[in-house]
Amino acid sequence: MSDSFEYLARETKSDLYSKAKKDRMGFWAEQANQLHWHKPFTKTLDWSAAPVATWFEDGELNVAYNCLDRHVLAGNGERIALHFEGEPGDSRSYSYAELTAEVKRAANVLTSLGIERGDRVAIYLPMIPEAVIAMLAVARIGAIHSVIFGGFSAESLATRIHDADAKLVITADGGFRRGKASALKPAVDDALGENACPSVENVLVVKRTGGEVNWTAKDIWWSEAMAAADAEHEAHAFPAENPLFILYTSGTTGKPKGILHTSGGYLTQAAYTHRNVFDLRSESDVYWCTADVGWITGHSYVAYGPLANGVTQVIYEGTPDAPHQGRWWEIIEKYRVSILYTAPTAIRSFMKLGRSIPDKFDLSSIRVLGSVGEPINPEAWLWYSEVIGGNRAPIVDTWWQTETGAIMISPLPGVTTTKPGSAQVAIPGIVAKVVGEDGVELANEESGYLTIAEPWPSMLRGIWGDPKRFQETYWDRFPGQYFAGDGAKKDADGDIWILGRVDDVMNVSGHRLSSAEIESALVSHPWVAEAAVVGANDEMTGQAVVAFVILRLDQVEAAGSDADVSRVLREHVAKEIGPIAKPRQIMVVAELPKTRSGKIMRRLLRDVAEDRPIGDVTTLADTTVMSSISAKLAAGAND
Ligand code: WTA
Repeated sequence: MSDSFEYLARETKSDLYSKAKKDRMGFWAEQANQLHWHKPFTKTLDWSAAPVATWFEDGELNVAYNCLDRHVLAGNGERIALHFEGEPGDSRSYSYAELTAEVKRAANVLTSLGIERGDRVAIYLPMIPEAVIAMLAVARIGAIHSVIFGGFSAESLATRIHDADAKLVITADGGFRRGKASALKPAVDDALGENACPSVENVLVVKRTGGEVNWTAKDIWWSEAMAAADAEHEAHAFPAENPLFILYTSGTTGKPKGILHTSGGYLTQAAYTHRNVFDLRSESDVYWCTADVGWITGHSYVAYGPLANGVTQVIYEGTPDAPHQGRWWEIIEKYRVSILYTAPTAIRSFMKLGRSIPDKFDLSSIRVLGSVGEPINPEAWLWYSEVIGGNRAPIVDTWWQTETGAIMISPLPGVTTTKPGSAQVAIPGIVAKVVGEDGVELANEESGYLTIAEPWPSMLRGIWGDPKRFQETYWDRFPGQYFAGDGAKKDADGDIWILGRVDDVMNVSGHRLSSAEIESALVSHPWVAEAAVVGANDEMTGQAVVAFVILRLDQVEAAGSDADVSRVLREHVAKEIGPIAKPRQIMVVAELPKTRSGKIMRRLLRDVAEDRPIGDVTTLADTTVMSSISAKLAAGAND
């Protein structure tokens, strides 16, 4: 077997910084040229229609070909692409040749169902190989996938299918989580019920759990369609700016935003960052990113980056504690995982269980550790480094977003000396700033807003169907700069510290949730007159959802005790959005603190939720509101 990375130009990491600094465009063109282009590009960036960029515009490529066929043709077809570990302990491995064959068949299935270039395909699957196969098959024929996290409710699924007018849904009977089979198909049936999503013509159903499924006229078994499909499929080239996927994420208003990514620039940066941030070295590397494909991390660092780079990776279906609390460490030992990429919330929960659990396993294969999704507190960083990394493996704390498509700020192993808690420096090719209210860069040690000052290849190309919102959300605040929505500070060394969201977006266990979206779920319940939601600090999950609700006067009796209200409304939110959005705590209050112009002062509610003395109330329309909320809490009226 030839060396995996032979056909990727080798360069020393420190060269990357100086090269990118000297000639940013030349640098990105060089990164893009590590992909296979059916038709080479001659233009690197066109920013004349800002804020919509085009990268490598006249080039043509096929994203799936780059992730599959290319490696097979280079003689690496025998290499394992995916080691799949099911929660109950079943496992399957696919070589690059086998994965390519599956994707070719799946591409033929899609075409036979009438899916064409540009059509939207919704993917609602557990973390099983078919999720990756489905994504790549959609990409292979130039269609657009919209992956919806399996933990989202039927309501959320319907909203997303509808917004994108998806023509096909790919789902499964269910998946294994927390030691049992949980059904997925009923949510699809609910979402499509009563013709709620008329754009959907067919539903492909993967059999995973073997549980009972309700069958409708639109349903087709994945396995039957695959068996009937032709094994041959030629990957055609599509323009670099052909849309690749839409991924919905929470914003500051109620409706989730469909973030749009395209092909050439996205794949360039996903592959480049994966290669350099995780310090890929040889075919002996085994990489494991624990993210679900329902999130951007699962797109860029499970489906696209690692496969474009031809590595061997592990995917795991279930939860970290099933069937036992050492499950992750057992997987690392079994596959000799050398690169682990996960979220601080997981690290904190392992910390709580104690080091005796990981200490039972052989973790000596680990060489690089990654963190993503939320700030990693120094205690968790040190534990991760010592207990999991044996004080040998560098930690890369990577900052990025659904919108940025790929990692933007991170140390590079072996080049940057790491610092617990700081994501540190923009990667080569990226220009990140910390600016004040006026958009001007601040001095070190001053807190401000994180912006990206120059366009980058994997940047979002827009919000699906809403160019105005795209402009307003990201570009109006600081003209000419991308506003990330995060606060940040540079320390005396110029290293960046991320200070968390500055808008009404919460980060719970590394998942983005919108206050407004949960508020509208709460007020859709007949008992609720008004609701306010804040993200309160939480030792385990980073932030937790805390809701304050005012009941309708005529419903107070029906609603019963505060404990009943809390229980019912938590379930209601799970049904409307998904279990991840369930408030940790719901407080029933008589009034909400509002300014004279009627704006809810979430800052004060956060003080209550975090059990702090209440801040300045002078701008409230009614200054007694906060004292009555505190009095009710002190009286222990809430559960
Ligand atoms: C937060 C996840 C601190 C941040 C890839 C950002 C982080 C939001 C980090 C995006 C990090 C992500 N340190 N905060 N290393 N990584 N964030 O779109 O607030 O799900 O704006 O993308 O997560 O979340 P998203």
